[in-house]
Amino acid sequence: MNNQEKPYVIIVSELSIDGKLTLYRGASSKELMSLMDEEAYTYLHEVRSKVDAIMVGCETIRTDNPSLTVRYVKGKNPIRVIPCSTANVPFDANILSKEAKTIIFTTKRAPEERIEKLQELGIEVVIAGDYLVDFELLLKTIKEMGIKSLMVEGGSSINWELCKLRAVDEVRIIHLPVIVGGENVPTLVGGEGFKMLSNLLQLRLRSFFKRGYHLITEWEVV
Ligand SMILES: NC(=O)c1ccc[n+]([C@@H]2O[C@H](COP(=O)([O-])OP(=O)(O)OC[C@H]3O[C@@H](n4cnc5c(N)ncnc54)[C@H](OP(=O)(O)O)[C@@H]3O)[C@@H](O)[C@H]2O)c1
Repeated sequence: MNNQEKPYVIIVSELSIDGKLTLYRGASSKELMSLMDEEAYTYLHEVRSKVDAIMVGCETIRTDNPSLTVRYVKGKNPIRVIPCSTANVPFDANILSKEAKTIIFTTKRAPEERIEKLQELGIEVVIAGDYLVDFELLLKTIKEMGIKSLMVEGGSSINWELCKLRAVDEVRIIHLPVIVGGENVPTLVGGEGFKMLSNLLQLRLRSFFKRGYHLITEWEVV
């Protein structure tokens, strides 16, 4: 995707050594993240404080109920951008709090009454797509709204949508020193996969360092 038409996109994730996002399919990653020490959380929140917006998929909202705010460092909360094809976000979800602006991208399938209820809660709702959220349109729209940088905190379906579009500029990983195992456990990137060597997203290691007990690697897409 053309860089002029989208924000700078950084995928940031906490991963086990075998690349898993969580303990088993359907499990909240908060359990795995409890292995992170304060310095690793501080790193994560530093990144949040430096971007204009943060995105996670709707499934992560339903399983993890994250706040997506900045708490471990001083700084502004990024705008929360949530792709959700039927606007199926629990009305008590933490991302609906007033601490930060939230924009939900949905589709024509979303029931009108759910959209209205979200709007009453102060949430901006944008229709972008017929069946699933059109990520190209989403990225163009938020760029037009003035969002220049976007941090993406998963899950694997959303990460795939962005990789497929070749819209990712950087990947930053907090490595958790554990092996989770399990064939069906979500990894960093899901979807159908690139399948051919010539199609793979190529990365270059930009830096690696330790924060607390955790190795952090930062990669640029080339
Ligand atoms: N370790 C970490 O850093 C980390 C970070 C985040 C998440 N996680 C874990 O990852 C798991 C969730 O990952 P996930 O892959 O199942 O879900 P996800 O990527 O968080 O969300 C996927 C959902 O987004 C919605 N969506 C809207 N438009 C879409 C489109 N064009 N393509 C794909 N999805 C679209 C769909 O829900 P609707 O049908 O409702 O629209 C879809 O089910 C959880 O276990 C969570 O704990 C871990």
